[in-house]
Amino acid sequence: MADNKVIRETPFFLKEINEQPKALANTLAQYLGPNLQLKMNRPPLDDLNLKKITKAYFTACGTSYHAALTARYMVEELARIPAIVEPASECGRHYQLIDENTLAVAISQSGRSRETLTSLQLAASKGASTLAVVNECPSPLTLAAQGSLTTLAGRVNSLSSTKAFTCQSLILGLLGLRLAQIRGADREQWRQAFDKLSRLPELVRHALSVEEKIENVASKLINYSHCFILARGRMLPMACEGALKLKEVARIHAEGSFIGEFGHGPLALVSSQTPIIVIAFADEIEPTDLALAFEFKARNVPVFLITENGPNQENALAALADEVLTVPAAPFRLRPIVTVIPLQFLAYHLGRLKGLDADRPGGLISPETYSDLKAQSLNSPTGSNLQS
Ligand code: BG6
Repeated sequence: MADNKVIRETPFFLKEINEQPKALANTLAQYLGPNLQLKMNRPPLDDLNLKKITKAYFTACGTSYHAALTARYMVEELARIPAIVEPASECGRHYQLIDENTLAVAISQSGRSRETLTSLQLAASKGASTLAVVNECPSPLTLAAQGSLTTLAGRVNSLSSTKAFTCQSLILGLLGLRLAQIRGADREQWRQAFDKLSRLPELVRHALSVEEKIENVASKLINYSHCFILARGRMLPMACEGALKLKEVARIHAEGSFIGEFGHGPLALVSSQTPIIVIAFADEIEPTDLALAFEFKARNVPVFLITENGPNQENALAALADEVLTVPAAPFRLRPIVTVIPLQFLAYHLGRLKGLDADRPGGLISPETYSDLKAQSLNSPTGSNLQS
């Protein structure tokens, strides 16, 4: 493990977590025109003839895929358009559903993941309007799409994405708002939703103060090899993103799961050796969540609760948790983005305590290289393994 030792004083991964408020503020500023008009670049988004759109198709890999899962809630709730979300590596499964009334949105930090590019091209071949949400511009994805929305996260040096992810989630929220506006949303409701979204950089800035407490939680989790992160509804993508970060950066086997599904099988794996992180807000807790938490207690499971501070502090699960981590109270559509911050820090501090290099997670390579290797492997007569 010696070659994985952190050699820089501040790894890019940590630096990029802390850059999120600025990245979000820059991204927000870029898309704000006079009179709260949303500016959308190359070409102006309206040129994609969004009035005719009857469904959205989101596709991406890894962390960007989790932003796509968040986008589904934003677009379905704000614009009332059904959304399909597909991992780009599964590209083509929803082929029959994509048509000229579909808005296909491919999301990528690098703009170079081959699977994401292929998904976008496939959607274009079915007549869909295509949009790229990218951080690196120009990139193969922006060149292939009819329109692009750029995140202004700045240069990303860490392989594992943090600031690009929160900026993607913000842009996808703005996209949901723009679609709602085009489809004649009530002006006052639209304005209120927009005002809430524009508070995001400040909320994330406050959320960063959770780091101190996270260092302590990381020291408690250091000796465990497995972990579950449970959540409900719109928080599930963050549970999955937290689990991905724990795998990549801290090399812990972690799974994100719907809390309501957890009793239907996964519970069999739970013991004092499987810590559980529950993401739950006071106003969303169901009686079955409490029953599950009592079961965890009976099995001596270490339980960590992530919730919000403020008026919702009366969280019924708090008394059953070994530790409670709070994030600033946020409008419910912004909760996911604010809640991912403690999970990013947790992955970092766990990895740091293990002496791992946060910027180059073990054995992982850039999305572009991965895609190239995959293509070579598929073309080779032996179909050689990616790891070899
Ligand atoms: C993977 C990385 O290879 O690519 C992930 O390990 C990343 O961290 C994913 O999220 C997708 O990358 P991109 O650039 O398409 O968002």
